[in-house]
Amino acid sequence: MTDRFQSRFGAGIPPRPAARADLTPPPSAPAMPPREFHFTSADFDKVRQLIHTHAGISLSPAKQDMVYSRLARRLRACGDRSFADYLRRLESDRNEWETFTNSLTTNLTSFFREAHHFDILAERLKQMRNARSITIWCAAASTGEEPYSLAITACEAFNTLSPPVKIIASDIDTQVIEHGRRGVYREDRVERMVAARVQRFFLKGTGTQEGHVRVRPELQRLLEFKRINLLDARYPVSGPVDFIFCRNVMIYFDKTTQRAILSRFAPLLSAEGLLFAGHSESFLHSADLFRSRGRTVYERNHDPRR
Ligand SMILES: C[S@@+](CC[C@H](N)C(=O)[O-])C[C@H]1O[C@@H](n2cnc3c(N)ncnc32)[C@H](O)[C@@H]1O
Repeated sequence: MTDRFQSRFGAGIPPRPAARADLTPPPSAPAMPPREFHFTSADFDKVRQLIHTHAGISLSPAKQDMVYSRLARRLRACGDRSFADYLRRLESDRNEWETFTNSLTTNLTSFFREAHHFDILAERLKQMRNARSITIWCAAASTGEEPYSLAITACEAFNTLSPPVKIIASDIDTQVIEHGRRGVYREDRVERMVAARVQRFFLKGTGTQEGHVRVRPELQRLLEFKRINLLDARYPVSGPVDFIFCRNVMIYFDKTTQRAILSRFAPLLSAEGLLFAGHSESFLHSADLFRSRGRTVYERNHDPRR
């Protein structure tokens, strides 16, 4: 695949034309077509219970249609005639668990999402210039944009493509991990990144890869992708970890699950380490473990009174 990516990024991507206000009234909602598969409230409750037990994900009652459309594909592929059939299959077919879980995760992400966190990281890394090795764990890495943004930040902070940084990129979803490992993205995924960054850290696809970019192999070498379920009692990550990015995944978990995960993060994080959370996530309920430094960044709480 490498030969299909040139080492220089060509002409910049032209800016998008400004969106025009669309004043046409929305059409009235079309009548719902009859469903292909029988799907009862009891089936939905069972799916909610299984994904909660297995991945910690709390699906709200409003997600019934989402569950139907995502799992209907699996029913078709497995040749099942109803959700009840599929749920019975799940009881006996351990392999289907992986696809079941992959189907129900939400993988929304982007490069340099919540950019202020990368600025904070860059500052910290610059202060650690003499460190021999720095470990960053990206604990819900999705398709890889977040851990590659961490790698870019490290390269820029150390001004080299081989900074002394190791990034563990993990997720529960095996499909997104595979995507991350490949490191190939549609060009529009990088169009909001400054051109100099794209030029330095990506290769432009040609031929069958036209319209895609690939992260440079030097960046890929900084990352290790692995499947880790945050619900597991032990993580295959050896501490101390200097930075944990666990962003926009805790919102899917209830407070008890969040606390259990935080209590496993705490001993892994180095004394001066930082934990980064998503913009709508708060760990104030576990202030005995992590103290807020503002902007959804946390440090370990060493206060002996707590
Ligand atoms: C919305 S994405 C967030 C991606 C990235 N951290 C970001 O902020 O852009 C949530 C990710 O969490 C993963 N996830 C959900 N449950 C998980 C679990 N129990 N263990 C590990 N990852 C999980 C999903 O597969 C998904 O890729």
